[in-house]
Amino acid sequence: MRTLIKQVLASKEPRDGLVVQGWVRTRRDAKGFSFLELNDGSCLANLQVIVDAATPGAADLPRLTTGASVSVGGALVPSPASGQKWEMRASQLELVGAADASYPLQKKGHSMEFLRTIAHLRPRSNLFGAVFRTRSRLAYAVHQFFQERDFVYVHTPIITASDCEGAGEMFRVTALKGNIDEQPQTDFFGRRAYLTVSGQLEAETFACALSNVYTFGPTFRAENSNTARHAAEFWMIEPEMAFCDLDGDMALGEEFIKAMARFALEQCSEDMALFAKFVDRGITERLRFVIERPFQRVPYTEAIAILEQCGRRFEFPVAYGQNLQSEHERFLTEEHCKSPVTVYNYPREIKPFYMRLNEDGKTVTAMDVLVPGIGEVIGGSQREERLDALEENLRHHKLDPKDYWWYLDLRRYGSVPHAGFGLGFERLLMFLTGVSNIRDVVPFARTPGSAEF
Ligand code: 4AD
Ligand code: MG
Repeated sequence: MRTLIKQVLASKEPRDGLVVQGWVRTRRDAKGFSFLELNDGSCLANLQVIVDAATPGAADLPRLTTGASVSVGGALVPSPASGQKWEMRASQLELVGAADASYPLQKKGHSMEFLRTIAHLRPRSNLFGAVFRTRSRLAYAVHQFFQERDFVYVHTPIITASDCEGAGEMFRVTALKGNIDEQPQTDFFGRRAYLTVSGQLEAETFACALSNVYTFGPTFRAENSNTARHAAEFWMIEPEMAFCDLDGDMALGEEFIKAMARFALEQCSEDMALFAKFVDRGITERLRFVIERPFQRVPYTEAIAILEQCGRRFEFPVAYGQNLQSEHERFLTEEHCKSPVTVYNYPREIKPFYMRLNEDGKTVTAMDVLVPGIGEVIGGSQREERLDALEENLRHHKLDPKDYWWYLDLRRYGSVPHAGFGLGFERLLMFLTGVSNIRDVVPFARTPGSAEF
């Protein structure tokens, strides 16, 4: 296997006979030799390569412009320059692929909006290299967190017939031509099918067999929200625990967010330093705060009272029975609590059918975790495990219990209290990196009107 620049830079000793490959970030010519800054994306740092004019292949130096790919053989030696431990003395140089002056990443300081238009090249920039390395590391951290706690990873289906959230915001999957609503029974699956909005219902069936499970996969929403925190395709992490109540659910959500913050600071420190410098100056301190301090917990009714009495004018009205808007969520977490806050026990009317009805008959065991800068990152609940109550709730939400026969079976045979949540992976990444638009933490964002690349 080829040696990556990250591995080269971690060397303990000088090395000879080394070969590295990468893309030229800059070239600087001096008398009789040139300096190349080489990057292969394995880490943020570049490797400085010094090429003597007499080196084989050096005749190509004029074509080693920004964006060109090269292969360099030579020796790793201590660097006299400050800020870098090693540099490479080339003994052989090969231009692999030239890049002409139209290469769009010539200079620093492109706007995020411009970089979105070149999503195929932006991973070669410092910022997006850091974002997507961090995304990869955090995906690993997610699995590590659950696997260490004996959760079983379940691959729930991407194509489904049930609307988990009951909000009707689903993309239809069909093989029919013409009027796709005329005879859905003749369609590929013999019924209407959709891209899943959540793996929860299937995860519940596995929790009611394997105890603690989680999903981690793509989910889809056809909601027409063109905001900085909504994507039509995003990744969701959904743990589900048997013999668990709302309290245990909130505790897991809080523990999970703290663990991810700790992992980012400890395991992604080079890239996190870049975010702290160029994206969000307060990021390190904010994450430390989140790790060290307990999250606050506020019942929905109390959250409404706080918002009504805070004297702030909101764009959307605050009233019991209404959903919390992003501006309300952010006020609660950023200004009132000044820390992440878990809001729980929401009115039954504004939450999906599967949440457990509380003794008051009005609220359900829902919980949302709100974090500064983002608002909601987690939505979860204890599930209704009582057959009668669940059937009643389905009808209350104008859903047909017949369509949920298998889900109801879990309540017929050895039903247990159980609970879980969904966490948007992109929202978590926004929170951890300080990147403020969801389009910039997804390799190729899918949003209303946009599916280039
Ligand atoms: O609150 P939501 O809709 O909850 C569910 O889907 C439950 N079935 C989860 C469960 O209990 N297993 O979505 C969960 C999380 C949100 O808190 C948010 O972080 C993220 O998914 N999310 C989105 N992220 C990006 N773009 C969107 N359009 C999102 N919609 C939800
Ligand atoms: Mg939600």
